[in-house]
Amino acid sequence: MVRLPYVTALTTLFSYGLLFAFGQLRDFVRRILDAGKSSNLKVGPAGRRGSGYAPICLGLEDFYTRRLYLRIQDCFGRPIASAPDAWFDVVERYSNDSNKTLHCTTKTSKCLNLGSYNYLGFAAADEYCTPRVIESLKKYSASTCSVRVDGGNTKLHIELEELVARFVGKPAAIVFGMGYVTNSAIIPALVGKGSLIISDSLNHNSIVNGARGSGATVRVFQHNNPAHLEEVLREQIAGGQPRTHRPWKKIIVIVEGIYSMEGELCKLPEIIAVCKKYKVYTYLDEAHSIGAVGKTGRGVCELLGVDPTDVDIMMGTFTKSFGSCGGYIAASKEIIDHLKHICPAHIYATSMSPPAVQQVISAIKVILGEDGSNRGAKKLAQIRENSNFFRSELQKMGFEVLGDNDSPVMPIMLYNPAKIPAFSRECLRQHVAVVTVAFPATPLLLARARICISASHSREDLIKGLEVISKVGDLVGIKYFPVEHEKTTSVEKTKKLQ
Ligand SMILES: Cc1ncc(COP(=O)(O)O)c(C=O)c1O
Ligand SMILES: *[C@@H]1O[C@H](CO)[C@@H](O)[C@H](O)[C@H]1NC(C)=O
Ligand SMILES: *[C@@H]1O[C@H](CO)[C@@H](O)[C@H](O)[C@H]1NC(C)=O
Repeated sequence: MVRLPYVTALTTLFSYGLLFAFGQLRDFVRRILDAGKSSNLKVGPAGRRGSGYAPICLGLEDFYTRRLYLRIQDCFGRPIASAPDAWFDVVERYSNDSNKTLHCTTKTSKCLNLGSYNYLGFAAADEYCTPRVIESLKKYSASTCSVRVDGGNTKLHIELEELVARFVGKPAAIVFGMGYVTNSAIIPALVGKGSLIISDSLNHNSIVNGARGSGATVRVFQHNNPAHLEEVLREQIAGGQPRTHRPWKKIIVIVEGIYSMEGELCKLPEIIAVCKKYKVYTYLDEAHSIGAVGKTGRGVCELLGVDPTDVDIMMGTFTKSFGSCGGYIAASKEIIDHLKHICPAHIYATSMSPPAVQQVISAIKVILGEDGSNRGAKKLAQIRENSNFFRSELQKMGFEVLGDNDSPVMPIMLYNPAKIPAFSRECLRQHVAVVTVAFPATPLLLARARICISASHSREDLIKGLEVISKVGDLVGIKYFPVEHEKTTSVEKTKKLQ
C-alpha cells in the first residue's frame, strides 16, 4: 500500500496545480492568438483545425500530454539498439527545440537494464532457444501470412498449446499473437450483455478494454481486497441485473497474478474462496507471474498454493518470462473449443509468428528441465534471490518500495512530477536505464519508477544499480523513509558484529 507522506502529497498537488495553471494560461493565450488569425486550415495545438471541424483531441489527458508529457518525453520511448539483456544499448538522442522533437544519433550508451520484463533472461541469446528459433525462422519464415483457421496453423502452434496447457495445469489452451488482444478479445467472447464482470480496480488496460467492449456490466472492487469483493458480489447477486432485477446470466471475477504497476501479489487463495462460496467464475491474468514466480515457474497458483482447477480461466502472456510475444488462455476443453469457434482474434487475426512460438516452446522446455539441463531451475532460483536482495536493499536505503517479496517488479515512489525526469535522466547519465510511469498508467499523484529485475542480472549488476539509484535518490530527494533506514542499518551492523 502507498504511504504517501503528507508534505509530499501537498507539494505534489502544488506542482500539478502550478503546471495546470500555467498550461491553462498558455492555452488561453494561444486561443486568443488563434482567434485573431482565424485561418481556415490552420492546425493548432494538438492538431485542432481552425473551423468547421469538431476537435479530435480533447480533455484532460490531451492537456496532460501537451503540458507535462511533452516536456519530459525524452524519458519515455528511448530507442534501444540491442537485445533487452541485463545490459543493453540505449541510443543517444538530441533535440534542437527543447525536446519537442528528438533525433537519434549514431551513438549508443551501454546501460544496466532495470526496465525490461526479461524475468528469466530468455529475451537475449540463449544457448538452447536461439538456435531453434533461427531454425524455425528458416523453416516457417517470420509470418504465416494467414489466420489460424486458414493456413496459419503450424505444427508449432499445436505443440505450444499442448505445452502451455501442461505447464499451467489445465486441460487445454489457445494462443494469440498479442497479450493485449488475449484479454481485450477473449473477455467479450466469454461474457456479454446480461453478464457481470467484477474487476480489480487496478487491472491492466487490456482487461478494462475487454470488459468495456464485452457489453457486460462492470463493477470494480477495491484493489486486492477480498472482503470488498465479497461485499460487491453479495450486493450484485441480491440486486440482479439493472432495472429488470433478473439474475445475472454469468458472473466472472477478473484479477491479476502480479500487478504490473504495483509489484504486488494477488491475494488469490482468499479471492478464490470468495468466488467458490458464491459460485462465480474466476479469470486470472498471469502476464507478470507466469514463469517468474513459483518453485517451478508455474506462477502465483504454485507460489500461493492454489490448485489451478480452482481458477476457471488462466490467462498469461509470452512477453515477459518467455522472452517472446503473444498470449494464451488455458481452461477446460469446452471453453477452449468454444473460443476457437467464436473468438474473432482466433478467426480473423494472423496467427502468432512461428519463431515467436518456437521461442516460447524452447523457453518452457528449459524451465521444465526438458532441455536436459538444470538451467531452468537455476534461473528460477536466481530471479527470486535477485528480486528479494534488490527489494530489501532499496527498502534499507529509505525508498518507498511497493509490492511483495518474490515479486520481480518493484516500484519506487517518486510522486512529484518534477522528480520523474530528474530521476530518469540522472540514472541514465550514470548508465542505469529505468522506466518511470505516471498518469494515465498510474493515478495522477502516484508517479513512480518501476524496476524489473531479471535472472540474468549478476550480483555486481545489482550492486551497481543500487549504488546509482541510491546516489540519484539522495540527489532527487525520494528517500521518503530515512528513519527506518537508520534503524535497519544499525540492526544490520549489530548483526554483523555478533
Ligand atoms: C497484466 C497484463 N495483462 C496483459 C498485458 C498485455 O500483454 P502484451 O504486452 O503481451 O500485449 C500486460 C502488459 O504488460 C499486462 O501487464
Ligand atoms: C540541430 O543542431 C545541430 C547543431 O546546432 C545541427 O548540426 C543539426 O543539423 C540540427 N538538426 C536538425 C534536425 O535540425
Ligand atoms: C531535454 O532532454 C535532455 C536529455 O534527456 C535533458 O538533459 C534536458 O534537460 C531536456 N531539456 C528540456 C528543456 O527539458
